[in-house]
Formats: sequence, structure tokens, C-alpha cells
Amino acid sequence: MEKKNKPDGMKRRNFLQKTSVFAATAMFLPINGLDLLSLNTAIIQTSSIPNVTLNNGIQMPMLGFGTNTLRGAIGVQSVADAILVGYRLIDTAHIYGNEESVGEGIKQSGINRKELFVTSKLWVDDSGYESTKKAFETSISKLGTDYLDLYLIHRPRGDVKGTWKAMEELYQEGKIKAIGVSNFDPKQLDELMTYAKIKPMVNQIETHVFFQQGDSYKYLKKSDIQMEAWSPFAAGRNDIFNNKTLADIGKKYGKNNAQVSLRWNYQRGIIAIPRSKQKAHMIENINIFDFELNESDMKAIAKLDLNVTQFPEWE
Ligand SMILES: NC(=O)c1ccc[n+]([C@@H]2O[C@H](COP(=O)([O-])OP(=O)(O)OC[C@H]3O[C@@H](n4cnc5c(N)ncnc54)[C@H](OP(=O)(O)O)[C@@H]3O)[C@@H](O)[C@H]2O)c1
Repeated sequence: MEKKNKPDGMKRRNFLQKTSVFAATAMFLPINGLDLLSLNTAIIQTSSIPNVTLNNGIQMPMLGFGTNTLRGAIGVQSVADAILVGYRLIDTAHIYGNEESVGEGIKQSGINRKELFVTSKLWVDDSGYESTKKAFETSISKLGTDYLDLYLIHRPRGDVKGTWKAMEELYQEGKIKAIGVSNFDPKQLDELMTYAKIKPMVNQIETHVFFQQGDSYKYLKKSDIQMEAWSPFAAGRNDIFNNKTLADIGKKYGKNNAQVSLRWNYQRGIIAIPRSKQKAHMIENINIFDFELNESDMKAIAKLDLNVTQFPEWE
């Protein structure tokens, strides 16, 4: 584990939050095959998600909730459920068309905005200095918030230089707590650094056991830019949930393929943002901080790397 990752202390405020989650959950009937007792036990076991300190001193949770494709009522319910079971980092983007649903889910969760870490992303069509400022205002207004914790350039396309300048200014004005990029390779980051006044704090890239991103991993560590994994389950592709290597490892710890995949990311110091619309899966995915993969597990998982995207249609 990276030295900087510090588990939250069990402060009074955290304790109160946890007990209120417990109390709130106790009002729910059995769901998704979990009885009430095991659901509550699962939630208690989740304890708090560790934070990492970004290169500007901001704390970011090491595990979050992805929202791509979760729109409308399902989006609202999923986000509210995710917050209820303990997620605090919520990942959205203008292009997902769900910022309003995410905002409504946050509102319905009843959790104080300051307890959350909300990420959105600037889409390619809005690249450029003026349009970035406008797109940012639209995003926060849809989300029903007056600031973002993290704003990312979604893809390295269009006028990246103008976009970055606008993001630096929004950051300096305190409207964004951290700024970063997504889908940038080391060369594209090197290019950005030739004109950036502020180094990105995060790079969110496709990362899962089948695409381990060795080069970016090394580059980002060396550059003190936090790596964040999108599609940590490859969105279910390549039969990840039935992969035998992951299943054999998981059996030793009483964990499933999803949990082993997320734990593997966490032990590499990578933030992951799994998506689910099922509360039982949300709980499983958060329940990864009570076991540790050993060196031989990590080596076996390293061998699953195909070193190729599982989303060629997005290339
Ligand atoms: N920056 C970018 O360019 C970019 C690109 C893609 C994604 N992202 C972000 O990354 C997030 C995650 O990626 P993703 O949405 O592509 O997919 P993902 O998180 O890799 O996988 C989601 C799929 O896994 C299933 N699942 C979740 N937990 C499970 C469990 N415990 N057991 C079995 N199945 C489980 C979900 O089904 P159920 O709903 O039935 O649980 C869903 O079908 C996105 O939502 C988005 O926020 C960013």
C-alpha cells in the first residue's frame, strides 16, 4: 500500500454517521436476497473507506461509485443507495446525461454535501477556455452544488490547453477542490505539463485485471498524480465475474471476483469506482477492507494482464 493512504480515524462525527446509516438501514425490508441481519452486518463491516492525500493536500476516498448509464429514476435511487451503504465518492460526467439524477440522489440521501466527494468531467464538445467555464457552471447547476471536489478533462481531445487554463482558474477561485484528466497517456501528460501552471492531481483511466496499465502506473506514481481506475470490472467483459484465477484467490478469503478485483486495485494504490444498480453488489464492492491479497495472489493476478483495452469501440 502507498504510504500516503491513511484510514480515517474513528472520530465522533464518523461514528454518528455510521450509526445513522445503521438506523436508516434498519428501516428497510430484506433486499436482493440479503436478510436484514446480514445487510446490517455487511454495512457495519464496511467501516470507513480509506482516503488518499492528493498532491495538493486534498483527501480523496480510495473507493467510489461509478454512475455511467445510471440515468433517471434508477440513477437517483442508485446514488441514494450507494451513499446510504457508505460510498462518499460519486463519479459522474456531463456525457453520462445523469448529473441531475446524481444531484437528486445526493439530495435524497440526506448526507451533508461536505461529506461527499463529487467528480464530474468536461466533455470533448465543450473543450476550450470559454466553453469550459460555461460547461462547469452547467454541471454544478445540474448537480445542485456550488463546487466540485474533482473536475476532469474527459478525453485528451480538442483545445486541451484552453480547457486546462480555465480549469486552473476555477481551481484557484475555489470552485473546484482538485483538477485532473482522464484517458491521458504519459505522452499526453508530458505535453500538458509543458504549459500547465498546476499539475493534475488525478488521471482516471481504464484499469482492471485484463488491462493493468503498467506504463501509466509507473509514470503516475513517479509524477505524484493519483491513478483512478474506470471500469474496474471491465464492465463485466471477458467473463471477469467467472474468472477462475480470481475465484480461486477469493475462495481463500471468502470473497468473490468483484471484491478480489477491487482489492487488487486498492493494494496498488489505485482508486476504483465500480458501478452497480443493485444494493447487494454495492455492499459487496465496499466490503474489501477486511482482507489482504498476498504476494503470490498479486503475482497470479499480474498474469491476467492482456495489456489491451476491453473497449476498442472507444479508441
Ligand atoms: N473516464 C472515462 O472515460 C470512463 C469510462 C468508463 C467508465 N467510467 C467511470 O467508471 C465507472 C465504472 O465503470 P463501468 O460503469 O464501465 O463498469 P464496471 O464498474 O467495470 O462494471 C459494472 C458492471 O458490473 C456489475 N457489477 C457490479 N458489482 C458487481 C458485483 N459485486 N458482482 C457482479 N456484478 C457486479 C454491474 O451490474 P449490476 O448493476 O447488476 O450490479 C455492471 O454490469 C463508470 O460508471 C464511470 O463512472 C469512466
